[in-house]
Amino acid sequence: MNNRPIGIFDSGLGGLSAVKELLDILPNENIVYFGDTGRVPYGTKSKSTILKYARQDENFLLENDVKMVIAACGTVSSVAFDTGKDLGVPFLGVVEPASRQAVSATKNKKIGVIGTATTVSSGSYKKAIQRIDKDIKVYAKACSMFVSLVEEGWVDENDEITIKTAERYLKPLKDEGVDVLILGCTHFPLISAIIGKVMGENVTLISSGGACAKEAAAYLKDNNMLNQSEEESTRKFFVSDTPDSFLKTAKLFLNTDKDLHAKQIRIEDYGK
Ligand code: DGL
Repeated sequence: MNNRPIGIFDSGLGGLSAVKELLDILPNENIVYFGDTGRVPYGTKSKSTILKYARQDENFLLENDVKMVIAACGTVSSVAFDTGKDLGVPFLGVVEPASRQAVSATKNKKIGVIGTATTVSSGSYKKAIQRIDKDIKVYAKACSMFVSLVEEGWVDENDEITIKTAERYLKPLKDEGVDVLILGCTHFPLISAIIGKVMGENVTLISSGGACAKEAAAYLKDNNMLNQSEEESTRKFFVSDTPDSFLKTAKLFLNTDKDLHAKQIRIEDYGK
């Protein structure tokens, strides 16, 4: 057993979708979450900047004595995955787990991927999927504005602006006839009702954070690393901008009020 917390980070609050799915499976785990709200989005930044940010985010979590680090960010998982290789604790991103789940789910071997511009131009999902099955066709589309719509809270399934935006972004993937769509950015599950409606009921949606959470839970179980303490588990949230809007957005992601207070930290202090 291992009672230390699980460390999860994202460029902002999208990674909370992975926290929610992880806690649904393992409610007894302690969590330390860092959302880089002062520097979000990562998806429009250069690779060298994302590498630096990812290293600082990981250093911060390691200082909190975590037993595992999860990069709940499609962008970091796509272009800065190697930063997690020698942390001294297990490290998981979202690309490989979501790709594995998508490959199992497709019947017509046509998978769509949506993510940030950086995630899509990195080709990370296509590479991961075709490493498993090279005959699968992968159609990727950057949907950068979805991140702002989610951070803005425009997530109601009847929100006309979000519906129109989704229709415009998703049309090419629909026209290709994909039967599985990877939500390759951890912000996107919040508008999955809209995405699902636009794509139609025959398309299976894969939450990248959810797929990662499932693999993280399995890893902890298989390696005897679960928290078995009788004490009530804790969730600690940290952000790099003022925590004013944290409560409202975090509530949307986590569907609860429990422990929803965030502390602001200076992430620049955690290495170059
Ligand atoms: N959550 C981030 C991701 O999964 C998206 C936001 C960003 O661009 O930083 O890529």
